[in-house]
Amino acid sequence: MSTINFNRSTSARLTPRGVNSPRAFSGAHHRKWWVSGPPPFDSPVIAYFIVSILVLTACVVYLSVFRYWAWWVPAPVPIPHLESTKGSTKVCNVFDGMWVPDELYPLYNSSNCPFAERGFNCLANGRQDTNYLKWRWKPKDCELPRFNALRALEKLRNKRVVFVGDSMSRTQWESFICMLMTGVRDPKSVYEVNGSQISKTIRFLGVQFEEYNLSVEFFRSVFLVQQGLAPRHGPKRVRAALKLDRLDEISRKWVDSDLLVFNSGHWWTPSKLFDLGCYFQAGGSLRLGMSIISAFEMALQTWASWVERSVNTNRTHVFFRTFEPSHWSGANQKECKVTTEPSLEAKGTDKSEFGDVIAGVVSSMRVPVTVLNVTSMGAFRSDAHIGTYSHPLTILDCSHWCLPGVPDAWNEIVFSYLLTDGWKTLQN
Ligand SMILES: *[C@@H]1O[C@H](CO)[C@@H](O)[C@H](O)[C@H]1NC(C)=O
Ligand SMILES: *[C@@H]1O[C@H](CO)[C@@H](O)[C@H](O)[C@H]1NC(C)=O
Ligand SMILES: *[C@@H]1O[C@H](CO)[C@@H](O)[C@H](O)[C@H]1NC(C)=O
Ligand SMILES: *[C@@H]1O[C@H](CO)[C@@H](O)[C@H](O)[C@H]1NC(C)=O
Ligand SMILES: *[C@@H]1O[C@H](CO)[C@@H](O)[C@H](O)[C@H]1NC(C)=O
Repeated sequence: MSTINFNRSTSARLTPRGVNSPRAFSGAHHRKWWVSGPPPFDSPVIAYFIVSILVLTACVVYLSVFRYWAWWVPAPVPIPHLESTKGSTKVCNVFDGMWVPDELYPLYNSSNCPFAERGFNCLANGRQDTNYLKWRWKPKDCELPRFNALRALEKLRNKRVVFVGDSMSRTQWESFICMLMTGVRDPKSVYEVNGSQISKTIRFLGVQFEEYNLSVEFFRSVFLVQQGLAPRHGPKRVRAALKLDRLDEISRKWVDSDLLVFNSGHWWTPSKLFDLGCYFQAGGSLRLGMSIISAFEMALQTWASWVERSVNTNRTHVFFRTFEPSHWSGANQKECKVTTEPSLEAKGTDKSEFGDVIAGVVSSMRVPVTVLNVTSMGAFRSDAHIGTYSHPLTILDCSHWCLPGVPDAWNEIVFSYLLTDGWKTLQN
């Protein structure tokens, strides 16, 4: 059921909403920058609609007139299933697939990329086995185009790409930059605009690709909504409040971008909220009994209205990436045994209810948003976590991923979206 929802939400942009909708005819004049090839809605599509309506009308007339009137008329021929004839708008589900070994991977060397933070560079931190670097994501029903840094850079010339979220978004931002840097002639022409160092708590990082006038930015906003002081006169245990109906103040810096990639979820846990005295607030009052998943949904609704109100989706393409599965084990979920091969089945703590909330909220939005449903991709990769190969070495980590690694595959999916007209022209 959730798969169906998800597919519907991703294809919302691609399917005309009805003959009366002005959107259906506007494609030729307002072509999105990432769309290559013919405009999405041209005359064959309109002709198709008109023909479909004529066929339907004829069938209705045929059925109502003859079925009851003339008992000798043979049973009506079944009406062909209209959906199945729309081959060109059926989009491959790039998230349903498997990892296949591929000697052409990894796509870069983190030691040569100044934007891969040391904590994610497992090889530099002592990891010896290297098979975990040699896997490619293969969707079941199609093939993703091979990553080509020059092609991706050309596509992103004069663009602004913004990642928003928690440390998983920071990893994706780092991966995105390292992948693109393999196509840049002079590595010195790629720099952080303020000369900032990457750290766990930094709120803004912006990397400029000078040759391409491309900016790739990261904003740390782990909940996406505002965190503030506890209201006065509240219970003593309440030390901070998460305002579920107010989007993070820095959100005004996220607009005017070309790609906007969000994530949130990993901080929505009792230990990162209630144990630290942080409770939910909405409409000016505390919601002490509210469950985490309802709060997450309310925050996402706030985010959704913000996107609808503030983002010009004619220019900006918005993505929301789903939860990352972790692979902690043991009775207390405090052990972390990194394997040398991916697991044969999707395992790990995937909190799929977060993905369901995201898919549900996105499917009822009035503007196009693409869900990057990467949760099950990661669930196979018990071999790709940082484990003991962190920096400083004392931290054990079965949540984050090594770089190069799994986040590169998320970015390959984003690049493939840009290069194949929203996955519509993917090859089998
Ligand atoms: C995400 O994809 C997986 C695998 O294709 C599927 O089982 C799951 O239902 C999807 N989740 C959402 C929220 O669409
Ligand atoms: C990555 O680059 C570093 C520094 O140039 C080099 O020592 C190392 O062997 C390279 N690693 C791989 C896997 O190629
Ligand atoms: C550089 O890119 C920005 C968008 O990120 C754009 O507004 C600006 O016009 C571009 N500059 C040039 C010289 O093309
Ligand atoms: C960093 O750079 C951005 C854009 O150039 C600027 O707006 C901001 O004030 C700078 N400083 C910090 C601390 O982010
Ligand atoms: C986006 O394009 C649509 C369709 O052409 C147009 O009606 C709308 O005004 C545009 N929105 C913005 C914010 O430019």
